[in-house]
Amino acid sequence: MSFAIFHHLLLLTILLPFSFVAQTVGNFPVGAALTAGGGASPWLSPSGDFAFGFQQLENKDLFLLSVWCEKIPEKTIVWYANGDNPAPSGSKVELTADHGLVSRNPTGEQIWSSNITNGQVSHGVMEDNGNFVLQNGSHGVLWQSFDHPTDTFLPTQSLEIGGVLFSRRTETNFSQGRFQLRLLEDGNLLLNPINLETKLAYDAYYVSRTSDTRNSSNSGYRLVFDAAGGLYILKRGGDGFFLSTVTVPSSDFYQRATLNFDGVFAQYSYPKRSTGSTNWSTIFTQPENICTAINGTLGSGACGYNSICSLNDKQRPACTCPQGFSLLDSNDEHGNCKPDSEVGCEGDWLSSMEDSVDFVELNNTDWPKSDYELLRPSREEECRNSCLHDCLCAVAIFRRSSCSKKKLPLSNGRLDRSVDGKAFVKIKKYNSLPGERKSWRAVIIAESVLLGSSVFINFVFCLRFFFYLRKLRKNGQGRISVETNVHCFTYKELARATNDFKQELGRGAFGVVYKGEMQIGSISAIAVKELNDLVQNGEKEFKTEVHVIGRTQHKNLVQLIGFCDEGHHRLLVYEYLSKGTLAQMLFGKSKPSWSLRIEMASGIARGLLYLHEECSNTPIIHCDIKPQNILIDDKCNARISDFGLSKLLMMDQSHTRTTIRGTRGYIAPEWFMRTPITVKVDVYSFGVTLLEIVYCRRSVYTETDGEEMILIDWAYDSCREGTLHILVEDDVDAMNDRENLERLVKIAIWCVQEDPSLRPTMRKVLQMLEGVVEVPIPPNPYSFSADC
Ligand SMILES: *[C@@H]1O[C@H](CO)[C@@H](O)[C@H](O)[C@H]1NC(C)=O
Ligand SMILES: *[C@@H]1O[C@H](CO)[C@@H](O)[C@H](O)[C@H]1NC(C)=O
Ligand SMILES: *[C@@H]1O[C@H](CO)[C@@H](O)[C@H](O)[C@H]1NC(C)=O
Ligand SMILES: *[C@@H]1O[C@H](CO)[C@@H](O)[C@H](O)[C@H]1NC(C)=O
Ligand SMILES: *[C@@H]1O[C@H](CO)[C@@H](O)[C@H](O)[C@H]1NC(C)=O
Ligand SMILES: *[C@@H]1O[C@H](CO)[C@@H](O)[C@H](O)[C@H]1NC(C)=O
Ligand SMILES: *[C@@H]1O[C@H](CO)[C@@H](O)[C@H](O)[C@H]1NC(C)=O
Repeated sequence: MSFAIFHHLLLLTILLPFSFVAQTVGNFPVGAALTAGGGASPWLSPSGDFAFGFQQLENKDLFLLSVWCEKIPEKTIVWYANGDNPAPSGSKVELTADHGLVSRNPTGEQIWSSNITNGQVSHGVMEDNGNFVLQNGSHGVLWQSFDHPTDTFLPTQSLEIGGVLFSRRTETNFSQGRFQLRLLEDGNLLLNPINLETKLAYDAYYVSRTSDTRNSSNSGYRLVFDAAGGLYILKRGGDGFFLSTVTVPSSDFYQRATLNFDGVFAQYSYPKRSTGSTNWSTIFTQPENICTAINGTLGSGACGYNSICSLNDKQRPACTCPQGFSLLDSNDEHGNCKPDSEVGCEGDWLSSMEDSVDFVELNNTDWPKSDYELLRPSREEECRNSCLHDCLCAVAIFRRSSCSKKKLPLSNGRLDRSVDGKAFVKIKKYNSLPGERKSWRAVIIAESVLLGSSVFINFVFCLRFFFYLRKLRKNGQGRISVETNVHCFTYKELARATNDFKQELGRGAFGVVYKGEMQIGSISAIAVKELNDLVQNGEKEFKTEVHVIGRTQHKNLVQLIGFCDEGHHRLLVYEYLSKGTLAQMLFGKSKPSWSLRIEMASGIARGLLYLHEECSNTPIIHCDIKPQNILIDDKCNARISDFGLSKLLMMDQSHTRTTIRGTRGYIAPEWFMRTPITVKVDVYSFGVTLLEIVYCRRSVYTETDGEEMILIDWAYDSCREGTLHILVEDDVDAMNDRENLERLVKIAIWCVQEDPSLRPTMRKVLQMLEGVVEVPIPPNPYSFSADC
């Protein structure tokens, strides 16, 4: 028998450690400890989604006590404790009864502590929502990481009045950064830059406007990230003010909202069951353009002083120093720029000024808060000369007959199409050899500023351009023969036709459109579109696409007449349509009649059907259907423009999805998921557009009381309740045509189904529009993700 007992004991001692491990998944008793760099596994939540422990900082022997997403390869950090004072290797964190978590460096000095004073800790719990909780013996919560947020906010977490999120210093430096998000006493959610020394808040660059001093039930009091992925400000009256109109299902996606180190507050999703390489996709950013949103009198702006901010394709700021300036700290791209050489007032500058300084010209660039003098009226040459002869002047901006002179340091620098005007940046002329190297670098930087893209894209661009030049030399620049009736124009011809690109018709995702005169057949007025973002595409793709577009011919499409492909100039020439866009009509003063609107809706549907099914073997996906991209001809036909271009910017529509193509409010949800992009994205955008046509209202509009309304939600609710007519009350024809009104809304709701497979094809849509087939009652567009 003694043998049996011994055996039993042995078994027990072997099993004990295992049973101990099994019990501690998600639940850790007082006394448990972790060592930085010790190789021990972190404390996991029961599902294994989140982990608590030490994470090594990139390229450093330093560790951050943090919570991260364990199943994501990048181990995205969602909470951290000692950002300003990372732990050296060998540091230890221990769960104590008196103070909760205490972390000490290898010499035993305390680095950080949860400093509990409200009870005795019994154990810590790593929960499946990413919250690390310290509990007492009766599971009362004594401390939780959700109450001490850092830069990230997770579903089921909420922020009360007075709550703050801080950005980190840079992507990899977790010290407190330059931006913060706060929920104020008055109910407003704010984003603002801060002074790093005193933590003084500068002017806000985002205000939620959820404060109402007259009626407190309209004031916010809590920022909520609910389990379903909705991010909203809860008002005292019980309503929610949603920060984004898009939600993705929490069951399938990890989600987070982060105040990024560059000041952009963004919500992200990441598929839980991902295959292969994937990444966090952006659901929304606030503000939409941080470069122009930060506009306070104090502080440097989104980038450092003397820097220029431009928005990259992820709606994040890219910062670059203008030519003649370079980074003060070469590791901090978002930091300050300093002049490479003084061009100030020292020495006998008067005699040498004109010889020794020069100007760099930058379009659409401004530092709006650095003016010290304004000359008006002024001419461009005068403006330049005035700055040249003024040793205090660092930059002059010439804009519509006014000239602003600016002094250093320049703040709030931005490169944006809305800026308009020309900047003359003063630089020293004769550089010695090392200076020449610098100015070569500056040219590249200036170029990347102009392209408004990251240095990396710019590098790719340069490389491509280099190969392109080599190819040209090898092949000789021959004119391609055109088998469609698309003309090939020289750049000179188009410059002449547009009077040197004088009259701008508009600006879109692809570039600027200019008006021109040219007699081609029966057409005398043309619209010339200069494509400016085709950096990733070679010569061949452009011509292939032009030919695909050129072959299309349909009454509801804008006709391509020709193109120009010369050096880096890529232009498309269309017939000019004088009546403007559908958006101008719908949202302008005099709305088109009800019957004309119905006809236009069918026209757009016919045009899309042609693109999807009729013009070639492979469907052409438009990717950006919206009233701004529908033009109206003089017979009041709706005509789709900009088709065939999305491919030029995406190369491979089904695989590369680093950028979401399309416009907020019209984008189908699958852009945020890992499902293939098909023609159904256009059906979705068509549905949104159809609702806008029916109601002459934008898909997201602000009511007179400041409330944001989502047309889709509104339409579905009123369709269910049978109150469809309310929004068209001032439209007699629509009111008297309830049957058609109901049909159109039902069709639209079918089109905006979250599940692409539920959406009808454009052929079916057209049949329903024309009354050929019945329109069944549509389901809730969100039934795909929610279970209601
Ligand atoms: C905890 O208390 C110590 C000593 O009073 C203090 O130095 C430290 O800043 C506190 N930690 C936190 C996170 O408040
Ligand atoms: C545990 O904490 C809860 C809430 O703080 C408290 O109500 C309860 O009395 C505590 N229990 C013990 C045993 O301390
Ligand atoms: C983070 O940046 C701050 C401020 O520039 C610096 O003092 C600190 O040493 C940096 N931390 C790390 C870990 O590099
Ligand atoms: C305050 O606002 C709520 C919600 O908008 C509204 O229901 C209520 O009637 C308002 N109260 C007053 C006194 O205006
Ligand atoms: C995801 O994005 C981050 C930041 O942009 C980048 O560092 C990382 O390499 C990306 N990962 C993948 C798999 O693309
Ligand atoms: C920035 O501030 C200037 C002057 O205060 C103002 O004229 C301009 O409209 C502001 N720009 C934006 C985008 O708010
Ligand atoms: C600025 O724009 C003008 C015309 O709008 C153009 O001729 C000039 O080349 C542009 N300058 C730069 C530096 O791109």
